Amino acid sequence: MPATPQTIFVGVIGVGGVGKAFLGQLHHLSQRLSQANPPTDLRLILARRSNKQLFSESWQPLNISNVLRDLDQVTQPLLPLQETVDYLATAPGKVILVDNTSDPTLANSYPSLVRKGISVVTPNKKAFSDTYALWSDIFSGAANGTGSANNGYIFHESTVGAGLPVLSTLKELVETGDEVTKIEGVFSGTMSFLFNSFMPVSGSGGKFSAEVTKAKALGFTEPDPRDDLNGLDVARKLTILARLAGLAVESPTAFPVESLIPQALESCTSGDEFLQRLPEFDGQMEDLKASAAKEGKVVRFVGSIDVPAQKVKVGLEKFDASHPIAALKGSDNIINFYTKRYGSNPLIVQGAGAGAEVTAMGVTGDLLKVIRLLQ
Ligand SMILES: NC(=O)c1ccc[n+]([C@@H]2O[C@H](COP(=O)([O-])OP(=O)(O)OC[C@H]3O[C@@H](n4cnc5c(N)ncnc54)[C@H](OP(=O)(O)O)[C@@H]3O)[C@@H](O)[C@H]2O)c1
Ligand SMILES: *[C@@H]1O[C@H](CO)[C@@H](O)[C@H](O)[C@H]1NC(C)=O
Ligand SMILES: *[C@@H]1O[C@H](CO)[C@@H](O)[C@H](O)[C@H]1NC(C)=O
Ligand SMILES: *[C@@H]1O[C@H](CO)[C@@H](O)[C@H](O)[C@H]1NC(C)=O
Repeated sequence: MPATPQTIFVGVIGVGGVGKAFLGQLHHLSQRLSQANPPTDLRLILARRSNKQLFSESWQPLNISNVLRDLDQVTQPLLPLQETVDYLATAPGKVILVDNTSDPTLANSYPSLVRKGISVVTPNKKAFSDTYALWSDIFSGAANGTGSANNGYIFHESTVGAGLPVLSTLKELVETGDEVTKIEGVFSGTMSFLFNSFMPVSGSGGKFSAEVTKAKALGFTEPDPRDDLNGLDVARKLTILARLAGLAVESPTAFPVESLIPQALESCTSGDEFLQRLPEFDGQMEDLKASAAKEGKVVRFVGSIDVPAQKVKVGLEKFDASHPIAALKGSDNIINFYTKRYGSNPLIVQGAGAGAEVTAMGVTGDLLKVIRLLQ
């Protein structure tokens, strides 16, 4: 099969939870597109993980059904990233790279990737929430930024709210001339779960340390729960949203971010030691719960952007029991967009904000958008 103008080459880096789910969806998508009008020949030509990679030297497609097994059995040494990028850039057609890692090195190469004509689709927050200089470098090169039309496109819907349409909703509000005044919400599945069970609207709820231990046992936290409790993940997501709302936020540490790690436990050498000592601080959290309850409110860990005042912050806030943020369930995310058009009742996006399948859906949805732009 010679490469035709309708051939699009796809490389995937990272085959973890999201990567695997994505490959399943890619398989389905490539079959559907091969029968579409006009048909598109979507070819997987590269799969790479931290220590191995498999690529097609002939530009013929790798078999998506077997690629994980084949990647596992590969014996060639891993090529340096730069050589892999050069290989992709010589493909006889348009190339889309799916970055399914949380690797900052790869994120730093996005500006050069798009300038080589390679489009990037990714759930990796690193590139978009690092310095403002990196953000500007990416979007001054991207074809959907201010770069040349021959450069690559960049899509990152799943960096905020996984598969939920958060960034696309904000983009549409802004592009249709609405004025976004405030964005407020729960942006972390872990924080959502913790506070929905620590202080449910119905009353009661467990001790804070017990809820953290439970969340970890259920696999809702990072291996070291401090990586969730320090608020940085939420701060990265707020940085991305604020920039898309037009604020030149310098970095995720350039605005107030409340950490839930007691200062005395910052130096614990392991996540387990941290969990063991966390009960010493339950008293403080119980006081907070009691003071909110006295006002008929609940406590939630939220991020907010006040657009006209150019203020971003992340931390604990109290909400009336009737507020949509208070009534959130399980580990769901909720994002409230307050705009001129919507008045005092915000446009609300709500649902699962983590999980491999829904995140992969955000990635696959972006892939489809780029494919349409490249056709
Ligand atoms: N899971 C979610 O709910 C969710 C939601 C939103 C966003 N995200 C984002 O999606 C991305 C992937 O998440 P995940 O849950 O799929 O993570 P994961 O299960 O840890 O998988 C990460 C994958 O990246 C590979 N990798 C890491 N460093 C690499 C490098 N330097 N070069 C090549 N490959 C590398 C790993 O290789 P090995 O297989 O060899 O270890 C693994 O295949 C992350 O950026 C995450 O923040 C995830
Ligand atoms: C890429 O990441 C998305 C979102 O994390 C995930 O759903 C998908 O399975 C990943 N794809 C690959 C091939 O790793
Ligand atoms: C891919 O592998 C599967 C399972 O081994 C096989 O049934 C299928 O025919 C292969 N597809 C192609 C295009 O070779
Ligand atoms: C292009 O860039 C923006 C970021 O400015 C991103 O959110 C969007 O999904 C990308 N695609 C298009 C067509 O704008």
